[in-house]
Amino acid sequence: MRILLFSGKGGVGKTSIAAATGLHLSRLGYSTLVMSVDPAHSLADAFDLETGLFQEKTNEPYSIDANLAIQEVNIQKEIKRHWSEISTYVVSVLRTTGISDVEAEELAILPGMEELSAMMYVNQFRREQRYQVIILDCAPTAESMRFVSMPTTLEWYMKHVFPFQRGLLKAVRPVANRISPVELPTDNYFANIQHLFGRLEGIAELLEDPKTTSVRLVTNPEKMVLRETQRAFVYFSLHGLTIDGVIVNRVLPTEVTDTWFDQWRASQARILDEIEEYFAPVAMKRVPLFTHEVLGRDRLIELADALYGAQEDPAAVTRTEAPYTFEKVNAHYEVRLRLPFAVKGEVGLFKKGDELVVEIGTLRRHIGLPTSMAALTPTRATLQNKMLTVEMKEG
Ligand SMILES: Nc1ncnc2c1ncn2[C@@H]1O[C@H](COP(=O)(O)OP(=O)(O)OP(=O)(O)O)[C@@H](O)[C@H]1O
Ligand SMILES: [Mg+2]
Repeated sequence: MRILLFSGKGGVGKTSIAAATGLHLSRLGYSTLVMSVDPAHSLADAFDLETGLFQEKTNEPYSIDANLAIQEVNIQKEIKRHWSEISTYVVSVLRTTGISDVEAEELAILPGMEELSAMMYVNQFRREQRYQVIILDCAPTAESMRFVSMPTTLEWYMKHVFPFQRGLLKAVRPVANRISPVELPTDNYFANIQHLFGRLEGIAELLEDPKTTSVRLVTNPEKMVLRETQRAFVYFSLHGLTIDGVIVNRVLPTEVTDTWFDQWRASQARILDEIEEYFAPVAMKRVPLFTHEVLGRDRLIELADALYGAQEDPAAVTRTEAPYTFEKVNAHYEVRLRLPFAVKGEVGLFKKGDELVVEIGTLRRHIGLPTSMAALTPTRATLQNKMLTVEMKEG
């Protein structure tokens, strides 16, 4: 199974491109699912579907044709199905602050629940071998970053916080419930978390396997959008995901010769060069600005043609190199991380237990070290040829 994840700044064209890619793949014969992970869904709109018809079936994939289905994960329904214990507890805590039930229920949707729900579906479909390709149409960059960091964050929580919290609560609950205005979480709450965690098992490996998952960054030829694309690139790499394509959408076509657009044309040409240079060897594709919105099947096919022509297979695996590697070099070990834009001063490194913590600006990743390296400490870091190398030695 292949997972293609489309991410990028708000409004750059992620949904249109994800939908067009899905349609193209289905026409090549792959059984394909396009799943919207964005709470502000617009996938059905891209296919120009009758919303009433579609909404009745939300949370289950909806068939567009024999090879193609789309799915918009509806968090309210998900909560009823999978998050009941957790949300019941959060709602009960919120109620003690005096807010109404409806408000409490709204607030009980914790950040990340949408992403977790989508991930559980991906895992379920993988187990059922239901699709050959799953395309993830993500929310703007910040949320999609949360999507990919969720399994490792949760793993970290389950390993370091959960057992401690659970044990502690067992001990203090009899006393605390008598004196505290807020009821402490019940055993069911923990059982629910453990159950959810079980349903996510294996998803981190799936996302980090370049033969399964590829990230495609969608951007526009504008400076501000490019900055966010770079940040996303670093973040996805830090989380072990392989980016194998950058798609620049809304490039002014050469047919547009009006002088009104002269400055746009010049700045777009400059940014396109910059993008190509920054992201190489990752392939860059361009999509022109069309004369119309991309709505409905015909427009999506037109977009797919601009992206892939008739024959290109967007599910093909083109990059298998993991963004970071662990290696033994002579007497020491090395962790290598591909980081095209970070400058040395921004990179922070430290060891915490058996984890290496890498900080780049405000982004942080705990990298679990292989057992052979767990006792080592980072001694030196160099950034050369777009590669951050961390030397680890004993003692
Ligand atoms: N190349 C293009 N030419 C013309 N219109 C486009 C092009 N690409 C996308 N659009 C239009 O731009 C709008 C935004 O596109 P889309 O919804 O795909 O972006 P998005 O990145 O998914 O946005 P969001 O961050 O809100 O999810 C839509 O109306 C779409 O039809
Ligand atoms: Mg979208």
